[in-house]
Amino acid sequence: MAIQIKTLEELKIMRRAGLLVGQTLDLLRQSIKVGMRTDALDAIAAANIKRGGGTSNFLGYHGYPATICISVNDEIVHGIPGDRIIEDGDVVSIDCGAIIEGWHGDAAFSYGVGSVDPEDQKMMDVCEESMWRGFAAAKLGGRLTDISHAIGSYIDSQGKYGILAEYGGHGIGTEMHQEPHVLNFGKPGNGPELVAGMALAIEPMITRGSAKTHVLSDDWTVVSNDQSRGAHFENSFVLLPDGKPFVLTAIDGGRAKLATLGIEVSDLLA
Ligand code: MF3
Ligand code: CO
Repeated sequence: MAIQIKTLEELKIMRRAGLLVGQTLDLLRQSIKVGMRTDALDAIAAANIKRGGGTSNFLGYHGYPATICISVNDEIVHGIPGDRIIEDGDVVSIDCGAIIEGWHGDAAFSYGVGSVDPEDQKMMDVCEESMWRGFAAAKLGGRLTDISHAIGSYIDSQGKYGILAEYGGHGIGTEMHQEPHVLNFGKPGNGPELVAGMALAIEPMITRGSAKTHVLSDDWTVVSNDQSRGAHFENSFVLLPDGKPFVLTAIDGGRAKLATLGIEVSDLLA
């Protein structure tokens, strides 16, 4: 299937889905506490998506049993909520999505609970910053791997991190996962041309050790082979006809963060 190009009217609905995802993740970040079960956070997400008039795109996706993915420490992505208790110093990654009127949003963050190891914090900061550098690298007439290169080269410049190769970002629209696949590393200047109305979920996944991972017997949880801890940040964004980006799943559209990288966000979806 070709890359789905969205109209401004469609993107305004996608923004509603994205904003609900951003608000839900904000609520989850504030709710994470030592001693809490991970499925309590899933219940908070489910209730908030319902309250906001959305439905979950994770629940039932290829049989996925929950509203969020919650991945702790050496679990990098796709962890299933359950009776696991959150402990002091844990690195908790939460991924969540929602659908409004058929349009999808998808986003994720990592958060260090309580007394966080400074090296874990640095890994999370590097992962998050690489995502923003990816958005900043997206220009009309540029190429998809300009984004991949911005993410990967920033991570590599910050230390010895493993960048997962089997997982990456993706197009998003009337389905959560669309073409194109977006690698989190590689040479710039390759892949499809970046055009207005192209919406992408950008999601770097890194570890403090090896990039090699395997899936647990629950068929979902992706863990690092060397038990190193990982981080995952994700936002869905779009390039608009004015040549500017807009981060659909960020509450402020990415305005504050992208300003620090010299990028103005579009007003076209306001
Ligand atoms: N949000 C994840 C991604 O970006 C997808 C999770 S699918 C689920 O690719 F089924 F695990 F929810
Ligand atoms: Co995604």
